[in-house]
Amino acid sequence: MNIVVGITGGIAAYKAVNVIRGLVLAGHDVHVVATEAALRFVGRPTLEALSRNTVNTDLYEAVAEVRHVAIGQAAELVVIAPATANTIAKLAAGIADDLLGNTVLATKAPVVIAPAMHTEMWQNPATVANVELLRSRGVHLVGPVSGQLTGRDSGAGRMAEPDVIVAEALAVASGTARLRDLEGVSVLVTAGGTREPLDPVRYIGNRSSGRQGIALAEAARDRGARVTLVAAHVEVPLPSGVEVVRAETAARLLEVVSDVAPRHDVTIMAAAVSDYRPVAVSDAKIKKAATGERLTLELVQNPDILATISAGPRGGRLVVGFAAETAPSRDELLELGRAKIARKGCDYLVVNGVGWTTGFATDGNEVVVLDAAGDIVFEASGSKMSVADGILGVFARARSGAQ
Ligand code: CTP
Repeated sequence: MNIVVGITGGIAAYKAVNVIRGLVLAGHDVHVVATEAALRFVGRPTLEALSRNTVNTDLYEAVAEVRHVAIGQAAELVVIAPATANTIAKLAAGIADDLLGNTVLATKAPVVIAPAMHTEMWQNPATVANVELLRSRGVHLVGPVSGQLTGRDSGAGRMAEPDVIVAEALAVASGTARLRDLEGVSVLVTAGGTREPLDPVRYIGNRSSGRQGIALAEAARDRGARVTLVAAHVEVPLPSGVEVVRAETAARLLEVVSDVAPRHDVTIMAAAVSDYRPVAVSDAKIKKAATGERLTLELVQNPDILATISAGPRGGRLVVGFAAETAPSRDELLELGRAKIARKGCDYLVVNGVGWTTGFATDGNEVVVLDAAGDIVFEASGSKMSVADGILGVFARARSGAQ
């Protein structure tokens, strides 16, 4: 495959040499387009030796060959690693003041970018909007991940590891392979919020809309998985092409999940399960006349479905939990997530911050995926569909043994 690797001016450019190397070793014809700034971080001879091709930088070189469009036209895949905040902004605006900008505008190939920058820049509203715009146009993002940055600081913005970039980029390029990378895999997703009845007309519920769980079910279906969706109360239409089982209460959810999870390779507990239920459910409507000025409800804890299905031998089946937390900072959010995955015993935990105005009933989400050791293996922000796709990528890779 003819692959263009764009390298832009960030310190992570030194790691991008391993992206070139990985693609060349996988048998691809790699053409590096480096920005001037990139060449201040990594030398042209290194890039040429590893890519085995001339490195292109200058818009005004080989003009007779119309190189500013020829490179993009010939490409079957464009990978930009690292993609700086500046490059992302230029790509979003369609600016073509250098060879890389021209190449991207001229290509019809899939474009994969691996952002790398400091946390403040990654979280800046300008970058957030640019990334969202690129995503909506079909640009694929790999990372960034959280970790040590260039200075003494660490946080979100570190470029994904080169082997991950190579794997994701090749999966994207193979199109069908990416979309069908869960072919033959069965995925169970629980979604929505449970409702615990108090009487025939009232219940204790929560604000979960089921959007993230349903997005996961749809994304898994689109990637070729056989999907069972166990839906508690959801506020969005149920997807087609998946088997739907309704389970309104935590007790019913436990029954259904215990029954069907053993027949699924991956179980994702995205449902917001009520931690408690009323000790007694009144057969008749509770009347004010009978209860008086104050009403005290006695609640009893529901069984922990996630912990139950995580326990015991699972023979390679993956179990994934969600953690919706109202932590005041990212560090505290991660701390709660790490304690939760240790307590629940699942393989991965998708942690997201929630609040009065975030997390629920919105189309956007911001998640960090922790593995059983508490390490961050993935993080993303964006629409619930793009977040779902990214999360599934983690499990697809885990199942194929690439992680
Ligand atoms: N969960 C579950 N059974 C329960 C409660 C929660 O299976 N009775 C699952 C949820 O589906 C989710 C994960 O556990 O995948 C975490 O849910 P969360 O409400 O964040 O955690 P809790 O265990 O309820 O802990 P706490 O409310 O104390 O944070």
